[in-house]
Amino acid sequence: MNMDIDAANWRIEEADETIVLTLDVVGQRANALSSVVLEEFDRILGQIEVRPLHGLVIRSAKVNSFIVGADVNEFQKISDSVQATALARAGQTVFNRLAGLPFPSVALIHGNCLGGGLELALACTYRVAREDDATRLGLPEVRLGIHPGFAGSVRLPPLIGDLAALDLILTGRAVSSRQALALGLVDEIVPDRHLMHAAHAFIARHPRPRRAAWWKRTPSWSMVRKPVTRLLQRQLRKKANPDHYPAPYRALDLWRRNASQDEEALSLGELMVGRTSRNLVSMFLLGEELKRHGRRHPHDVAHLHVIGAGTMGADIAIWAAFKGFRVSLQDPQMEALARAVKKAHGFYKKKLKKPVAIQDAMDRLMPDTNGDGLHRADLVIEAIVEKADAKCELLRSVESMVRPDTLLATNTSSIPLEILGEALRDPSRLVGLHFFNPVAQMQLVEIVRGKQTSESSLERARAFTVAIERLPLDVRSSPGFLVNRVLMPYLIEAMTLAQEGIAIEEIDQAAMHFGMPMGPVLLADTVGLDICLSVAEMLSGPLGIAVPERLREAVARGDLGKKSGRGFYSYDKSGKPRRRAAHGHSDVPVTERLILRMLNEAAACLREGVVSDPDAVDVGMVYGTGFAPYLGGPMRYAEALGEVGIASSLQRLAQEYGSRFAPDEAWGRTDLFARRAALRG
Ligand code: NAI
Repeated sequence: MNMDIDAANWRIEEADETIVLTLDVVGQRANALSSVVLEEFDRILGQIEVRPLHGLVIRSAKVNSFIVGADVNEFQKISDSVQATALARAGQTVFNRLAGLPFPSVALIHGNCLGGGLELALACTYRVAREDDATRLGLPEVRLGIHPGFAGSVRLPPLIGDLAALDLILTGRAVSSRQALALGLVDEIVPDRHLMHAAHAFIARHPRPRRAAWWKRTPSWSMVRKPVTRLLQRQLRKKANPDHYPAPYRALDLWRRNASQDEEALSLGELMVGRTSRNLVSMFLLGEELKRHGRRHPHDVAHLHVIGAGTMGADIAIWAAFKGFRVSLQDPQMEALARAVKKAHGFYKKKLKKPVAIQDAMDRLMPDTNGDGLHRADLVIEAIVEKADAKCELLRSVESMVRPDTLLATNTSSIPLEILGEALRDPSRLVGLHFFNPVAQMQLVEIVRGKQTSESSLERARAFTVAIERLPLDVRSSPGFLVNRVLMPYLIEAMTLAQEGIAIEEIDQAAMHFGMPMGPVLLADTVGLDICLSVAEMLSGPLGIAVPERLREAVARGDLGKKSGRGFYSYDKSGKPRRRAAHGHSDVPVTERLILRMLNEAAACLREGVVSDPDAVDVGMVYGTGFAPYLGGPMRYAEALGEVGIASSLQRLAQEYGSRFAPDEAWGRTDLFARRAALRG
């Protein structure tokens, strides 16, 4: 090869007048398109476009990904929209160069092909993808508060049709390679070993590049696009408030105007420096940071043993088996195990679809009435009833049956690890793995550190959590840990408001308008009022929380929420709450009361060192409860409001509604946000 190009991240090979470019970003698990990677790519294209070649193949050297998108770390360094627009234009220029090559190009896709990665593939003449479920293609930009910016919104509609393109762009969902073939997003799917052969065949045959059938194209006349836009806007509004999440609306508008690449870049520039995108990007990067932290040590779990096949134990076992682990699930009650097995089957059927895969997952999950799995376990998670005596007795007997190196974990939501540790000869091996309900939807797991928990137990717990694709957040063992402690005052305030006669629909609507995924009253009903009561009672002593009478009465009546058909709401047969239309608004500052109680508790957690820094509070509340992601979590929101303002609002509320609003002493302390500032600096 006589090409002399300085490109650390690309490998260039040439045979039979075809260039094979392999992207292998140095020091990273996955390929992302940083400015450096794009500059190198541009230089390579500059050299090859003038040569009489037959074709170009672009592929990735990474195991799990083609290209996962633009390098999100660079987004944070952008200071204004002009710079952001320039970044998009630079990417567009490189991809236009790729699209304009005088010979055919093929993207060989395996694993994740997302965002800028898919936009690169779209600029190739052909796309060949590996035929498997791990290959996923999509444009997830809206999840980061932006839309495609490397000409993806311009190139996609002519390829797969307007409505299919809008579906991918507006939802950000990824499709499998099989679905991508059906959509026309890729030209062919083949098993791994045939990928290169298929690419060469496309170059040799050089068929006419694929276009969407005429009937899949929507004419660009505004009399056609306007009504379609209105319809799609209505659908979007059901899912995302345009004031909170403008990106999909902007993407739709680009389509309505049949916008150019230049307009795409301009619009992206504005979105990228807006509050929503800034916060969503921060949340994404914080999630990645938690994963990186967990991956510092390889996980060492082959066999997981879960004790207690109730709501949580069953879900944890089902999820871990789904993620490829061998799991035994122990419960003395046959009915509990039978329910868990049935639930597992339903879940795997929905997720895995193929009978072989479903059977494999079912085979990995072993019901166990006697604890036979204990002696093989590398990790034991107990999820039995929330009673300290029962848990201590169980842990004592478990310790005598497992190997000395087996890690022991508890899913307790309230019992201090120090108390449970007393039952063990070696309490340093006990760690809290606090999952959230439902396990399949809630990404966060609190990694609870008791006074005696060893560093190595924490490392192992984090590594396992990441291996089952959950986010491990370190918290100190203290009442309610982080998430329940911050959430509870908010739920209690909602119930207090209801007790004062404010319509529950109005309370829930206020929280939804603020940006919560679900109102607090409906959330309490969904979690179960009995569970809310037990957490509230547990926190009432240490935190001085007054438990609302209405909650006690409901539980005493057996109105436990959604699961019993009645809680604060009553539920129809399909489990939908019967809501009355919320008429007008009371003069009570509902949103302020709900949110400030949360912020106040979050500040207290930070002051007490339940978590190490404001970012940990934010990532915990966003991934553990869905706290308005566009605001970037409670501490980012507090920072935006200003500490002085928060303290004086709390003071005012305390005068009017009582001492529960008394501002925490953390407000106004110079070090409250200092750690985050240090990280940013
Ligand atoms: P659950 O009452 O649904 O299930 C408990 C299960 O444990 C039952 O199937 C019971 O038969 C079994 N069990 C009781 N004693 C046992 C023993 N000695 N050996 C083996 N199995 C035994 O309870 P749930 O709600 O699943 O809670 C379990 C744990 O998870 C508790 O510590 C709870 O605080 C915690 N948790 C619960 C959450 C929730 O939303 N339900 C959320 C996060 C944590």
